Amino acid sequence: MSKSITDYIKLSIPNKPEYVSVVRLTVAAIANRMGFNVEDIEDIKIAIAEACTNAITHGKKEDKNNFDIEFIVKDDKLTMVVCDSGRGCITDEISVPNLNDPKEGGLGIFIIKSLMDEVEITSNLGKGTIIRMSKNRGDDN
Ligand SMILES: Nc1ncnc2c1ncn2[C@@H]1O[C@H](COP(=O)(O)OP(=O)(O)OP(=O)(O)O)[C@@H](O)[C@H]1O
Ligand SMILES: [Mg+2]
Repeated sequence: MSKSITDYIKLSIPNKPEYVSVVRLTVAAIANRMGFNVEDIEDIKIAIAEACTNAITHGKKEDKNNFDIEFIVKDDKLTMVVCDSGRGCITDEISVPNLNDPKEGGLGIFIIKSLMDEVEITSNLGKGTIIRMSKNRGDDN
């Protein structure tokens, strides 16, 4: 078996919505390089944008202007980690939206979970939130 290598790409971006496109473009380039198909790349872009928007809207802290994103490339698996040092939340309280009676908001995490293969959220009140999500490249590419 050949030894697989893990590649890491790190970004630190300002807590401002106008920079989310930088992350979308970066992940598109990485996923494209890995050979993901166009549909999967679109899904990955949506998922990372939702996670970044959460970091900006819920994870903002006055004295910290940036938050971090890490991309981990290992074989056919792309992992993205979005880490903010904002107010945090109680992850058990994040509810599944009622799609028969949709209300505004509360869809981001649900969308991320539907689009990615693995999602893990760790949060500490007053300290921040880390969302880690992965997608495997299918065989049909
Ligand atoms: N980075 C974060 N920091 C603190 N709380 C968060 C973070 N991400 C999510 N949350 C909490 O989890 C809830 C659900 O997030 P989700 O993205 O599903 O919905 P939303 O951001 O409220 O609305 P939408 O994404 O549909 O605009 C948020 O309302 C917030 O309370
Ligand atoms: Mg959201």
